[in-house]
Amino acid sequence: MLYKICRPLIFTLEPELAHNLAIKLLKYSPQLSKARNYKNLTNKVADIDFSSPIGMAAGFDKNAEIPVQLSKFGFGFVECGTVTPLAQEGNPRPRIFRLPHDKAIINRLGFNNLGAKNFLNNIKNFLPSLDSSSLSPATKLNIPLGINIGKNKDSEALPDYLHLLDKFYDYASYITINISSPNTKNLRDLQKSDQINEFLKAIKNHHTDLSNSKKKYVPLFLKIAPDLTIFEQEEVARAILDNKIDGIIISNTTINRPYDLVSKQKAEPGGLSGYPIFLRSNQVLKNMYLFTKGQIPLIGVGGVFNADDAYHKIAMGASLVQIYTAFIYEGFGLVEKIKKDLSKKIAAQGFKNISEVIGVEAKSQFVF
Ligand SMILES: Cc1cc2nc3c(=O)[nH]c(=O)nc-3n(C[C@H](O)[C@H](O)[C@H](O)COP(=O)(O)O)c2cc1C
Repeated sequence: MLYKICRPLIFTLEPELAHNLAIKLLKYSPQLSKARNYKNLTNKVADIDFSSPIGMAAGFDKNAEIPVQLSKFGFGFVECGTVTPLAQEGNPRPRIFRLPHDKAIINRLGFNNLGAKNFLNNIKNFLPSLDSSSLSPATKLNIPLGINIGKNKDSEALPDYLHLLDKFYDYASYITINISSPNTKNLRDLQKSDQINEFLKAIKNHHTDLSNSKKKYVPLFLKIAPDLTIFEQEEVARAILDNKIDGIIISNTTINRPYDLVSKQKAEPGGLSGYPIFLRSNQVLKNMYLFTKGQIPLIGVGGVFNADDAYHKIAMGASLVQIYTAFIYEGFGLVEKIKKDLSKKIAAQGFKNISEVIGVEAKSQFVF
């Protein structure tokens, strides 16, 4: 409600400035917890306990500055990053554009972030580790933390990903390999059939070494683009299963522009997110559920604005759901509203727990 009143004022600010201000405000203002738990929304996914399936998508908290604050808004998990080994500026500004009439955003940030060292220092402040047993409950993160990793602009991909796996293995609840951002040149080619298998094999070998030496298993997720053709989707699904990747995040932003966009910024280059990608990301989600035969968890992201949208993704095969763009338009009050409505909805449909909804509407028909 408060956000809706303030939104016109916030929208007078340049989008990136508004975002940076929001991070600063959240970082330094004390937060009272607004989180409520619903028993029928709890689930275990990839062997991790989730109090709710609604999470913050990657890209909002790139440097892991405010996961504890985000948890107080009721998120069931937070994915921070994309973090790269070295700090980098990203593309020239302006590079985030609101498309208010389409409930969408276009961004071409290009993995701007403060680098892995800074990220690690930040997470050490709130993760229970050897030296932080003295953390008070208010400053400790009590929800799963996903760490989304990417490569630096001018470096070779594989060494960067392996380095970041080493760096964050001890701290993440899960690690996301992001090869689907459209704003880093050639990154998305790693999803192509001539590269994906070899790439995932190398990642998985390193991951196996890490899990053996550390005697701890941290699940690996792969985040994919909604722009893959059906044939590419099948190849990616096969490579994921063959290399025992633990889950798939579907999807990143799209470089396509649906013909019915009306906002004047629609021609800006970059990745489109929000309402216009709901349909496409759901199609890919459903295809991947069918290709993987429901054997590994999927995380549905793209265009979720309410509990019906979240329910739809889960019924199409998602075990968890993430959101970004809707928060820009609706504020974080949306998290608790979605949880409340989703809990009611699954009970009304006769399900005891959210886990029973996964894939119920993913009929065996691929979408091209
Ligand atoms: C401004 C902005 C920055 C983003 N940065 C990242 C990023 O660094 N890494 C990533 O994997 N996804 C990033 N994303 C993509 C989101 O995580 C999400 O996959 C996409 O926006 C679709 O979800 P939505 O429609 O709920 O926004 C970004 C999205 C936006 C709008």
